[in-house]
Amino acid sequence: MATAAQVKALVESHGQGDEARFYSVALQIADSAAKSGRVRFSEDLRNLVETGRVAGAGGRYLSPTSRAVQVAQPRGELAQVLTVGYPTAHLTDMALSLEVLRRIQRILAEQRRQETLRTHGFQPMRKVLLSGPPGTGKTMTADVVAGELNLPSFSIRLDNLVDLTVDEAVTKLRLVFDLVSQTRGVFLFDNLDALVGQPGQDDASAAAGSGGHLIRSFLGFLEEDESPSVLVVTTNRTQLLDRGLLRRFDVLIHYVLPTTGVIHDLIQRRLRKFDLTAVEWPRVASTAGGLSHEEVAAAAELAAKQSVLDGKDQVETSALLNALRERRELLKISS
Ligand SMILES: Nc1ncnc2c1ncn2[C@@H]1O[C@H](COP(=O)(O)OP(=O)(O)OP(=O)(O)O)[C@@H](O)[C@H]1O
Ligand SMILES: [Mg+2]
Repeated sequence: MATAAQVKALVESHGQGDEARFYSVALQIADSAAKSGRVRFSEDLRNLVETGRVAGAGGRYLSPTSRAVQVAQPRGELAQVLTVGYPTAHLTDMALSLEVLRRIQRILAEQRRQETLRTHGFQPMRKVLLSGPPGTGKTMTADVVAGELNLPSFSIRLDNLVDLTVDEAVTKLRLVFDLVSQTRGVFLFDNLDALVGQPGQDDASAAAGSGGHLIRSFLGFLEEDESPSVLVVTTNRTQLLDRGLLRRFDVLIHYVLPTTGVIHDLIQRRLRKFDLTAVEWPRVASTAGGLSHEEVAAAAELAAKQSVLDGKDQVETSALLNALRERRELLKISS
């Protein structure tokens, strides 16, 4: 329990608007709770302090949007490459293979129980590499990790860095990593491929050019980072995954196109509020085969909107099949 002096200091600092003292007393309480074995409470309190500090709200309630703005503004130079949000996504929104699900759950468990791990001399996993084809949930996973851990999510647009000179880009990366160590959050470095060159470009020649310099700087920053933030890097190009890259990460998750079971699960999760009892799943799964999660989700929504327009709760097999075929047609045209 907090001592009487700590409670008084909390109330006093709140009354005086002394945010720094308020949080410092809260952290003292978290420390003594950890020492007396109440590790879970200590972790929760630390997380609350971190979130409060990020918001810079001084005790006032701010909506998630205004909190996001408060985080972004101090780093005006980063506006071009960084966006901030407070995702509310949850793991139950995702349809995943058991293997991918288990890995994400493991990251969340280690993050939630990091004090326990630290008291045993271990560090929680926090440098995460996600690879796989488009539309399989890599970016969504970063949102889910932030949503589940109640952390702000910072998304770094690596593709915007390549338009800058190498020096400018490295300076921006340094600012991003300063923020990584100052503010606990989930930092998504989306589409690492952008730093290496265009698809089809020979990776060896790209690595020798300015893209190669940038990626080496990025990996250097990544390696040096010892912050409490979670760093998520995504790539579509599995050929990038050599040992030199992989050793910088605590965990690698490979995403694949959805299997029959995952397609079924995805549609059920997306259309929770609809009656799916009449759906012939084997036909739906075979028509959806080869499409990404994103495409299947879009088709499910298309079919459900048809039901809404028709004033029905039930989604028909034929509507799902038509929507899936429509998505497939669209893909053919755009490829
Ligand atoms: N595993 C999943 N479960 C549920 N919905 C998903 C899943 N994967 C993707 N989606 C849906 O598809 C959308 C796009 O997915 P996301 O942006 O995460 O794909 P990605 O793997 O990052 O693709 P890219 O490689 O093109 O960046 C999500 O916002 C979500 O609506
Ligand atoms: Mg993505």
